[in-house]
Amino acid sequence: MELLGVIGNPISHSLSPVMHSVALAEAKKQAIYLPFLVQAEGLAAAIKGAASLGFTGFNVTIPFKEQVVPLMTELTSEAKVIGAVNTIKFEKNGKIIGHNTDGQGFLASLADELMEPKDLNCLVIGAGGAARAIVSSLLSAGNDVCITNRTKERAEKLAKDLNVGASEHRICNVVDLSVEGLKDVVAQVDLIVNTTSVGMAPYFNQSPIPLELVTSKHVVVDIIYNPEETLLLKHARQVGCKAQNGVGMLVWQAIKAWEFWWNETPPSKVSMFEAVQDALRKTSP
Ligand code: ATR
Repeated sequence: MELLGVIGNPISHSLSPVMHSVALAEAKKQAIYLPFLVQAEGLAAAIKGAASLGFTGFNVTIPFKEQVVPLMTELTSEAKVIGAVNTIKFEKNGKIIGHNTDGQGFLASLADELMEPKDLNCLVIGAGGAARAIVSSLLSAGNDVCITNRTKERAEKLAKDLNVGASEHRICNVVDLSVEGLKDVVAQVDLIVNTTSVGMAPYFNQSPIPLELVTSKHVVVDIIYNPEETLLLKHARQVGCKAQNGVGMLVWQAIKAWEFWWNETPPSKVSMFEAVQDALRKTSP
């Protein structure tokens, strides 16, 4: 029996166990995937313990994606660039490899649902961990990216970090999060991505950027999946934009984690989507 799981704190809300368990059953794998609530002071012991117990892998969620980095024996290039790990592979030879599938998951979900992410002008709202993964994946797939964030210095730091090694044609600029700052940039972008928590509780009635700037020419992705439709997505659809929420990224980062552990693809993406959507329906008010 192979052992896998997700570590975080809190963990009861995580949708990874339902998604992975459905895929494991369909693949008829002799494996079990469980949620593990870990305290910060027990994180290193949890990783070492899982390695000793012969675990195959972990997913890592809030607040440990950065804290596990020094506990890895190796990092993939994605984990290095993003500076965070959301997937761990325990190898028989004792290696503990940290990887990050958030950026790949974002690109795959966009390609699957809306458009090929290539040669686009993009605006990414936010400068946290999710933004870091998304901006770096958009840059490496050959897109231009502007970043805007409530705390401008954080966006500037992100742009500086990710511009190292980026091609000169893929420059990552930072713009002010205000109508004035955004007006000209938004008029030129094809893709708008919200990576902030504005749109989920307690910010249901807020949009991360002024809605009047979003017009039918934009493709809009909000990586929030609860609620399924944020104010930004509702407006985007009303004015005729192609738009998607965060369910696709959630499912695709899981598919990419599976591929990292086993070098194979889960049998049915559709079942994983359905598992997430069922679970969300049960938890929504
Ligand atoms: P994650 O790993 O999910 O990206 P994070 O690192 O906490 O989470 O980042 C959250 C992002 O949402 C940040 O860009 C944050 O802006 P700041 O850098 O200014 O903190 C943004 N954010 C969170 N709450 C916000 C709010 N009420 N208004 C605007 N931006 C907000």
